[in-house]
Amino acid sequence: MTIAGALFILALFGEFHPMVSYPLGVYSEEYARLSGIRSHLIDPSGYLSSWSSQDSICVWKGVACSGDGSRLTSLNLSGLGLSGLISPQFGHLSSLEELDLSLNSLQGPIPTELGWLQNLKRLILHSNSLSGRIPAEIGLLRSLQVLRLGNNLLSGEIPPDVGNLTELTMLGLAYCRFNGSIPVEIGRLKRLVSLDLQQNQLGGKIPDELGSCLILQNFAASNNMLEGEIPSSVGFLKDLSLKS
Ligand SMILES: *[C@@H]1O[C@H](CO)[C@@H](O)[C@H](O)[C@H]1NC(C)=O
Ligand SMILES: *[C@@H]1O[C@H](CO)[C@@H](O)[C@H](O)[C@H]1NC(C)=O
Ligand SMILES: *[C@@H]1O[C@H](CO)[C@@H](O)[C@H](O)[C@H]1NC(C)=O
Repeated sequence: MTIAGALFILALFGEFHPMVSYPLGVYSEEYARLSGIRSHLIDPSGYLSSWSSQDSICVWKGVACSGDGSRLTSLNLSGLGLSGLISPQFGHLSSLEELDLSLNSLQGPIPTELGWLQNLKRLILHSNSLSGRIPAEIGLLRSLQVLRLGNNLLSGEIPPDVGNLTELTMLGLAYCRFNGSIPVEIGRLKRLVSLDLQQNQLGGKIPDELGSCLILQNFAASNNMLEGEIPSSVGFLKDLSLKS
């Protein structure tokens, strides 16, 4: 084969099987998804202008990849002054382990599609203007260790499905508009260290089941409409600082 012929075949190969030579480059599915995500965001400071470059997406602002550059592992767009919506496209970034969109002005609902992110360990959306309910699908995130949704306009009841997040160490739902009662299923979170529910419209009793969270160290529930006494089982908690 001539060199020209070999180059021609290489060019064809590059054209039709681009994933081989550009793992997370301009031809990857993630490139298209991040472009879709960006189209839902308003970015007045232009932080995401790198999100259209032909470079590997791993060097884009807020993006981090695995060591070999083959998997997108983290998206951190915290505090970039972004508004707009959280695109359902986030749900397709299946290798994500960390998603931090906190400290922006994002609006609208938490998309149910985020429940598809089976590798997600940290979901941090606090301090935005998100509204609507917590989707029950959040309970599908079986690897989740940190869930921080506080300081938003979220309302409705806390779905009992959060009790399925058995790896959870930190659950932050403070400064929202949650009502109903504290789900008894939170007692299933045996690894929970911090539970922050303050400043909502939660009513009813603090469930006895909370006493099953044996390593809980920080439980904050002040400024709600919780009734009655703190259950005696909560007294078994070690190192508890109860601000109620
Ligand atoms: C995201 O980045 C900010 C600083 O830009 C940092 O404070 C924060 O800890 C990061 N989030 C995560 C989950 O590492
Ligand atoms: C959470 O677990 C309960 C009980 O096992 C189950 O009925 C529910 O469908 C689960 N929720 C999710 C979102 O997986
Ligand atoms: C919680 O608030 C919603 C409106 O956001 C309302 O429809 C619902 O009845 C309330 N639930 C309870 C238990 O108060």
